[in-house]
Amino acid sequence: MTTPTVKIVVSRNLGPEVMPLLDRPDFEVISCPSQTEACSRKWLSENVVGAVGLIVVLTDKVDAELIETAGPSLRVVSTMSVGYEHIDVQQLSQRGIKLGYTPDILTEAVADLSIMLALMAGRNARQTATIWPQYAWSPFLFCGPQLSANWVYPTRTAGFLGFGRIAQATLARLIPFGFTHCLYSGNPTSPPDPARDATVAAKYGLQSVRRVAGLDELARESDVVFVLAPGDPSLYHVVDEAFLKQMKRTAVLVNTSRGTLVDSDALAKALREGWIWGAGIDVVEGEPNVTADHPLVKEPRCAIVPHIGSATTETRLGMATMAVNNLIAGLLGGEMPAQVKM
Ligand code: DGY
Repeated sequence: MTTPTVKIVVSRNLGPEVMPLLDRPDFEVISCPSQTEACSRKWLSENVVGAVGLIVVLTDKVDAELIETAGPSLRVVSTMSVGYEHIDVQQLSQRGIKLGYTPDILTEAVADLSIMLALMAGRNARQTATIWPQYAWSPFLFCGPQLSANWVYPTRTAGFLGFGRIAQATLARLIPFGFTHCLYSGNPTSPPDPARDATVAAKYGLQSVRRVAGLDELARESDVVFVLAPGDPSLYHVVDEAFLKQMKRTAVLVNTSRGTLVDSDALAKALREGWIWGAGIDVVEGEPNVTADHPLVKEPRCAIVPHIGSATTETRLGMATMAVNNLIAGLLGGEMPAQVKM
């Protein structure tokens, strides 16, 4: 007697360590062959028909049309990402389809990159890494603002747009740099929580941790601003000309969350006109269609990398494994390691 199988579609080959987890007699797995190239929309639409489980990455759009194309068999969608802006959650919820995602596992990798970009932005990495050894050492050549506390600035303030897990892991990394204060913007629907702030301050030995009443204060007071909020439409271009104009001229802006939160043209202008010192950018609105003539790519004070926040071998393996485990648990009726609450 043959075991009945259910169709599982995987939009990217997840590699030799992870794909075997899907080798089960009750699964018929259809995977896009490439590990590196995105599967086309055409491939996904053709193959998703009749799927019961679907594993995607953040460049695959799981919209009403794709969900409709899959048909009534679809029970679980699992994304190998912490963000799920590419998925029509409302449609899934209406149809009783579960959604898995991969939080926590990438927190440390993204926090690492946030610090790297803060350093790169302040220390002119974009210019200096490419011209060596044409310039001789000179007392004030290529000087930029120092991230760590120093004899001129013995106190340092970190500002966070969004204060979730990654922001707090980034804050933890700033303590050995002598940071003394932390300001953050919180979800306006939840009340400020001074007791929690005091606990975070005590945990890290900071002089203060405070949720700001308005973004003006965050912009004005911070030596480095980390954009680490989700890509919610309500936060579209939260970093705009008005915000950037209020920042310190020696400050740097780091975005390792979603490109839509920062107005790229305003940021390029801020760098060009010296409103702020530099920027460290992992994500850009409109990615991956970012070409050499993009205003931020052209800005020498902008250290820019192509959405590599979670790109460590360990983290990506963990994310892929979690995406598969979410799918399997969701289909077998068990508790997913991480399920989006709808
Ligand atoms: C995510 O998982 O949402 C990240 O942006 C990927 O690095």
